[in-house]
Amino acid sequence: MADKKRILSGMRPTGPLHLGNLHGALANWIRMQEEYDCFFFIADWHALTSGYEETGRITDYVKKMMIDWLSVGLSPEKSTLFVQSHIKEHAELFLLLSMITPVPWLERNPTYKEQIVQMSNKDLSTFGFLGYPVLQAADIIIYKANGVPVGIDQVPHVEITREIARRFNYLYGHVFPEPEAILTKTSKVLGWDRRKMSKSYDNAIYLSDSPEVIREKVSKFITDPDRKRRKDPGNPDICNVFDFHKLYSPEEMIQAVDHQCRHAEIGCVEDKKQMAENLIASLEPIREKRRYYEERPREVADIIITGGNKAREVARQTLEEVRAAIRI
Ligand code: TRP
Repeated sequence: MADKKRILSGMRPTGPLHLGNLHGALANWIRMQEEYDCFFFIADWHALTSGYEETGRITDYVKKMMIDWLSVGLSPEKSTLFVQSHIKEHAELFLLLSMITPVPWLERNPTYKEQIVQMSNKDLSTFGFLGYPVLQAADIIIYKANGVPVGIDQVPHVEITREIARRFNYLYGHVFPEPEAILTKTSKVLGWDRRKMSKSYDNAIYLSDSPEVIREKVSKFITDPDRKRRKDPGNPDICNVFDFHKLYSPEEMIQAVDHQCRHAEIGCVEDKKQMAENLIASLEPIREKRRYYEERPREVADIIITGGNKAREVARQTLEEVRAAIRI
């Protein structure tokens, strides 16, 4: 264990996970747990930074997110899976790091500037929202993580984390390695409207969707917009259904559909139906695992407690080193 590189990443519990999350972040995490010492956590304190007014659903989302994770194959045997707010040491390190973090570093953060504009319906002029990257830095360096798999939007946060770690080491002596961002390739699945699949666009297929819901959603997929009638030839290269075929259908079908669509030998309705069945079949192992964990809430609770205990032990040791370095 000791010589394996340590990987850490987190997700905010803001709702159910969808196929975009599966083919983006989660697929990456699942692969990494075979090779690295992985820590994955649900960032419920981070959910408060912009959602402090509506807190009623956070605990429910936390439980559901853990079930989403387990259902796709994140494994409590291979990785340390936990919930941020269960490890109070994150808050102590956040406080100590806040003492040494210059405010201009936070004000310059591009994600901060963007979100203030984008979420103009919320009052984000809070200390906690400005300090988001300091909390994130604490999350990462408390486990002395070497690598942080994240999407492109999170890279500035990992950069600030490195700067904070460097500043701490300079002021108090070397405690923290500087973590590196490991960029997650963006997922190839798009929403039915061919925009990026996202909760906020209301265009997502969720891991928890039933076969009926999936059929219904697929029936609304945008296909080649120039193919107006059944007898018009289509272009699979710009068709959302075809992109899904490439992920979920056997090779013979992909080739057949490619040909049939271009020669108007298959209609979009029929094509959507066969793709939906392949998608549903591919997701069946995930649904089966979900059923298992949904029927066993005690087992899920135990996984969260055990992961928390493992994480806390590491965090506690780091805090001892931190207090000694600061002499407090
Ligand atoms: N900010 C991340 C996001 O919104 C979530 C997060 C919190 C995180 N702490 C982290 C990610 C530490 C990686 C490492 O997606």
